[in-house]
Amino acid sequence: MNTAIRKAVFPVAGLGSRFLPATKAQPKEMLPIVDKPLIQYAVEEAVEAGITEMIFITGRNKRAIEDHFDKAYELEAELEAAGKQKLLDMVREVIPKNVNCMYIRQPQALGLGHAVLCARPIVGDDPFAVLLADDFMQGDPGGPGVLAQMTAAFAREQASLLGVQDVPRENTRQYGIVSTEPFAERLEKVNGIVEKPAPESAPSTLAVVGRYLLTNRIFSCLEKIGKGAGGEIQLTDGIEALMQYETVLAYRYQGRRFDCGSKLGYLQASVEIGLQHAETGAAFAEWLAQRESAACGKSST
Ligand code: UTP
Repeated sequence: MNTAIRKAVFPVAGLGSRFLPATKAQPKEMLPIVDKPLIQYAVEEAVEAGITEMIFITGRNKRAIEDHFDKAYELEAELEAAGKQKLLDMVREVIPKNVNCMYIRQPQALGLGHAVLCARPIVGDDPFAVLLADDFMQGDPGGPGVLAQMTAAFAREQASLLGVQDVPRENTRQYGIVSTEPFAERLEKVNGIVEKPAPESAPSTLAVVGRYLLTNRIFSCLEKIGKGAGGEIQLTDGIEALMQYETVLAYRYQGRRFDCGSKLGYLQASVEIGLQHAETGAAFAEWLAQRESAACGKSST
């Protein structure tokens, strides 16, 4: 098997209903964390992992993402004329030159499994990554990003990998949940997977997050499965079918995840990245500290 992962699929055709009205006319993946859209963070994570072919599965509100990764002639000309070189460089460096972006339309939001299946004509026989940009991931400080950790593990094990983390049992209904047995450091062998189980029936509290490395057999599996939870074609069900043929491993990533598909996770990511940001970090930290001491003052009176 070809062990180098060069292609990544970004399903961005969901309705984003939890962020309405912000997502009425734009995909939620274009929502910014401070000054960069979620999708750009995910593409940067893929680039760091050595991926050069970016495949976006888009929906009815596709334009903003295509435009974001395209050349912006008018904007570049205006910035150049105004001598704003720093901003000009920033706009030009949104995507490295050796990276290709491709777009496939998912005609209807029939589910994540269906969105991934739409990538088949471009992915072909190769193993590939799937990144859900609304799961905003940060590797440990100074360490590799989450996808780079996973591609390194894939090169060793040559098996499909699911990024996983432990979640509180009361939250199992929000995730695909796996049952596993020990395999190697940070890796577990997946024996079962179920989409959004109730806390009392969840086989474990190990949840699949929005990072996957999959062998191309997933496509024939997705083709065979029907609608699952919520009446959608679920990637989870495709992975369950894949397990009948191949080993699937769960990878406990090193780093942090913010669920930016939810308002709370999005706000938490904005605060964290705001504090880390070279331009805003110090002033934002000061403002937060002042705010806290003002609140403490109020509560002690
Ligand atoms: P979500 O379950 O978060 O759904 O999809 P959503 O529609 O984006 O958001 P809400 O729940 O309505 O607020 C997980 C990922 O799968 C993609 C989404 O874009 C998101 O990245 N997706 C989902 C598709 O591309 N197509 C689909 O048919 C469904």
